[in-house]
Amino acid sequence: MIEVSGLTKRYGTFTAVRDLSFTVQPGEVLGLVGPNGAGKTSTLRSLAGIIPANAGRIHIHGVDLNADPVNAKRQLAFFPDEPRLFDYLTVRQHLNFVARIYGVTDYAALAQPLLEELEIADKADQLPGELSRGMKQKLAIACGLLHSPRVMFFDEPLTGLDPLGIRRMKDSILSRARAGAAIVLSSHLLHLLEEVCSHVLILKKGEKIAHGTLAEISAQFAHGETNVSLEEIFIRATGGTEN
Ligand SMILES: Nc1ncnc2c1ncn2[C@@H]1O[C@H](COP(=O)(O)OP(=O)(O)O)[C@@H](O)[C@H]1O
Ligand SMILES: [Mg+2]
Repeated sequence: MIEVSGLTKRYGTFTAVRDLSFTVQPGEVLGLVGPNGAGKTSTLRSLAGIIPANAGRIHIHGVDLNADPVNAKRQLAFFPDEPRLFDYLTVRQHLNFVARIYGVTDYAALAQPLLEELEIADKADQLPGELSRGMKQKLAIACGLLHSPRVMFFDEPLTGLDPLGIRRMKDSILSRARAGAAIVLSSHLLHLLEEVCSHVLILKKGEKIAHGTLAEISAQFAHGETNVSLEEIFIRATGGTEN
């Protein structure tokens, strides 16, 4: 479970995220959407403990991120939009390294199935420089999933993937949710979010302007129409993509 209350993130005097509160239960996938600069990445990085928030309380699987950051971070994985890898470690060495950092004891039983699920098992002895962008992203995801996190944050995970890669990524996210993970996912690919997310939160200029299940959000912005797409709701809610 993810519990966020009053999250505020400032850069100097500029407030990127203001007084944001929400909860994501195990099994739920929350789509974080909003125009460029709305504060999605700032929110996700704050929740993952990568950058410090200025105010707010964050609980990750029941652990207070401020009071006990190491244990909170053990429960979570953060997947940035650009995979960050080590140039001189092979695919297998990446997983080995991550397993040691997180103290994953059943490494042997976990690593190979993960590589197979993500279809990079045949690349196990290659270096990142020899991998396509999509494969680098898969390796970053394998590294993030190795310690079986209960909470996952994905920042634009579908960008740069081919259609099959997108389908597989969606399946991986949904299977983790079904296994009880609480997931937050930011993306501009709204038609894909509709297929993956149970809930949506719309941010605009750092503030929450709508939050609920897909059906609730539709009811709020559809003005009585049926079958209004998330894309149309986004445009109505945010007034286009200014700022
Ligand atoms: N390190 C930073 N220093 C100063 N301003 C930043 C920094 N990171 C992001 N911002 C600003 O915060 C706002 C939100 O950015 P971001 O969280 O990246 O939005 P999004 O991911 O929704 O596009 C933007 O106005 C951006 O320019
Ligand atoms: Mg961003």
